Amino acid sequence: MKRVAVIPGDGIGVEVITEAVKVLHALMDRRGLPLELVTFDWGAEKYLRDGTSLPDGGLEMLRREFQAILIGALGDPRVPSNQHAVDILLGIRFGLDLYVNQRPVKLRDVRLCPLKDRSERDVDFVIFRENTEGLYVGVGGNFKRGSEDEVALQEDVNTRRGVERILVHAFEYAGNRGRKRLCMSDKSNAMPHAHGLWQRTFQDVRKRYPGIESRHLYIDTLAMEVIRDPSQFEVIVTCNLFGDILSDLGAQLVGGLGLAPSANIHPGHASMFEPVHGSAPALAGKNLANPLAAILAAGMMLDYLGYREAASDIERAVTDALRRGQTTPDLGGKLGTKEVGDWICSRL
Ligand code: NAD
Ligand code: IPM
Ligand code: MN
Repeated sequence: MKRVAVIPGDGIGVEVITEAVKVLHALMDRRGLPLELVTFDWGAEKYLRDGTSLPDGGLEMLRREFQAILIGALGDPRVPSNQHAVDILLGIRFGLDLYVNQRPVKLRDVRLCPLKDRSERDVDFVIFRENTEGLYVGVGGNFKRGSEDEVALQEDVNTRRGVERILVHAFEYAGNRGRKRLCMSDKSNAMPHAHGLWQRTFQDVRKRYPGIESRHLYIDTLAMEVIRDPSQFEVIVTCNLFGDILSDLGAQLVGGLGLAPSANIHPGHASMFEPVHGSAPALAGKNLANPLAAILAAGMMLDYLGYREAASDIERAVTDALRRGQTTPDLGGKLGTKEVGDWICSRL
């Protein structure tokens, strides 16, 4: 039995996670998938009610009692500081040391690609985003805040250990999954200290993987190349912020944020799965949000937990839904969030 903590969060996070949970229940009922799901109400509502974002002892509990976490999205216009999202989402990524953020970019139906003359085979790569360092660590501050002389500092923290482990993970993934090409991307021409470390570590790590064709592109060039010819990429590895930006760009190549799942992993430990998208406040409560990213994230979770067949069943059902136009309006369909979830369940 594997235990999964479910954190629906805010806005459409709640709606899409409801559908992902429905799909997991369908697999549990029909296939006897041995899962126990426990839901937590962490999010803006609770934060506004009693000031709690990530409860005391919450991280320890997740680490000790659960093998996986399925999370929706955090962000609410009533919390302009975004403090609860930082505490919960980044709190879990950092607190559980989930250093691998894996974001697949896979075209499942050619009609969803905004590039001309491309086939499904041309857009199929995985982004590995460093997930515990970089500009996200929260080191910095403001001086003379609010005055005309204000100074703002946000430090970019990169460690040899942190850079090396994400590079090694990406190379290992490429080797294990039969992917031959890996591209590391940084901005070492403009950031010689922080990204000089990425360069030197990359030059060192790549020597250990002679079977993998590895190369480097600056992030600006990579952004251009991914659009010009996405078929040249199989595995991309980059820092936290660049990975964040690149993953939304990648999402749009395959149909948009409503279709983009992600995994936050520390191999062998409790790991967290989520759609790439946010809480989309304007869409919330309208049964319009696309639940497929969350459902695919649940699939990535099952794969991580070792339930490979159930994971492929989800993948197949989602591809079927796209081919048959059983989708929400963002993908040109006429179904609501709940109806897409029902359709996926009916295909399993
Ligand atoms: P967003 O991802 O919520 O929305 C961006 C655009 O994509 C919007 O037009 C939205 O309608 C659309 N979209 C997103 N998900 C969709 C779905 N499932 N189906 C259909 N359309 C979808 O990003 P944003 O507007 O920049 O941020 C809104 C809030 O979410 C902010 O508070 C932000 O900080 C937060 N956020 C949270 C996460 C997370 O929890 N992982 C990720 C990104 C943003
Ligand atoms: C994501 C989100 C988060 C990030 C935000 C909400 C802090 O955009 O998961 O991609 O930047 O990592
Ligand atoms: Mn993002």
